[in-house]
Amino acid sequence: MADRLDLSGRHIVLGLSGGIACYKAAELARELVKAGATVQVVMTEAATHFITPVTMQALTNRPVYTHQWDPREANHMAHINLSREADAVLVAPASADFMAKLVHGRADEILSLLCLARPAERVPLLVAPAMNREMWAHPATQRNVAALRADGVSVLGPAAGDQACGEVGDGRMLEAAELRDELIAFFQPKRLAGQRVLITAGPTFEAIDPVRGITNHSSGKMGFAIARAAQEAGAQVTLVAGPVHLPTPAHVRRIDVQSALQMHDAVMPLAAAHDVFIATAAVADWRPVAAAEQKLKKDGSGRPPAIEMVENPDILAVVARLPQRPYCVGFAAESHDLLRHAQDKRARKQVPLLVGNLGPATFGQDTNALLLVDEHGHRELPQADKLTLARQLVAEIATRLTPPTR
Ligand SMILES: Cc1cc2nc3c(=O)[nH]c(=O)nc-3n(C[C@H](O)[C@H](O)[C@H](O)COP(=O)(O)O)c2cc1C
Repeated sequence: MADRLDLSGRHIVLGLSGGIACYKAAELARELVKAGATVQVVMTEAATHFITPVTMQALTNRPVYTHQWDPREANHMAHINLSREADAVLVAPASADFMAKLVHGRADEILSLLCLARPAERVPLLVAPAMNREMWAHPATQRNVAALRADGVSVLGPAAGDQACGEVGDGRMLEAAELRDELIAFFQPKRLAGQRVLITAGPTFEAIDPVRGITNHSSGKMGFAIARAAQEAGAQVTLVAGPVHLPTPAHVRRIDVQSALQMHDAVMPLAAAHDVFIATAAVADWRPVAAAEQKLKKDGSGRPPAIEMVENPDILAVVARLPQRPYCVGFAAESHDLLRHAQDKRARKQVPLLVGNLGPATFGQDTNALLLVDEHGHRELPQADKLTLARQLVAEIATRLTPPTR
């Protein structure tokens, strides 16, 4: 996903106020530029004590603005010009002091001045707080954060963890890649706003004995990409994941399971409270009747042990028959005859939308191609990276939903 240009065509004013996390702003500027954005850096005087404008200029290929009396602008109004060009203003790091200034509409230097002067309905303001945990927890800061939210400002983070001062707690600025992804998500159309989406992803693992089991090559990448895309589209997302080594997409609630039975038991109490159910997991069809308590050993006879199998519950079919069922989307990973198998599976599971993909071509890969089958026919989403496909699928699902009633 490294070469995605999700911010292509976006012009971002990146504001830095005074804090140690300014060192992360250099990386952030790079990430935004790599994602296709043009980045205009504006710094408070305090920020220049932590990182030089030279570094920020070199990374963004644009001169940095550090004071309101800058003579470079013909009309001498950098705060007006800069704020009108922007698609968004992101202040990272946002110091405690800077947030207090925003709350009060102070405008005694270039960055707070341009934040106040920006056309708020067209140029959103996002802030990434960064400070010592005591500063963050102080009632004054908490009041200010609440006031900023009430004013329509998006507050990104902060995270908890080790702090530059040596203490541990809330107040760390999000990492550069996290902030980049927050900004990318911010710009995605909110097609699933107010919807609750439940997704299964990855393989399952059916134990044979304490050290062996039956599983498959599903990596979970497609389901995790859909979870991210649904969250970006404004949904509340719950992700039930089989055994995979993937980071949880931001703001997604994740429940880890191993076996098909555990996945079934995790999904069933949640399904009716969701508006959409997307079953991407490659759930094992069968499991050993009982896992041996001890590792099965060769007995010298040359005959392998007989492993008696039993069918697993069909999670998608069960959810699709609930009286209060969510809108159900199934996935079929096939090796051949994709359209026929996808149509058969859609009819068998009684789901409105079935998505076919070729298992060997998708498992573990970063790209895929999808075949959408519904009552009207089928449509192909051609080869692309999984996040692109996930966003397209989310858009397709959104057009098929009625607005939430709850
Ligand atoms: C070494 C040092 C580190 C600081 N780190 C932070 C910080 O992480 N977050 C913060 O809100 N303020 C921090 N401050 C205090 C701000 O730099 C100070 O409030 C400054 O006036 C902020 O100015 P500005 O909001 O105009 O950028 C730090 C100060 C010093 C001297």
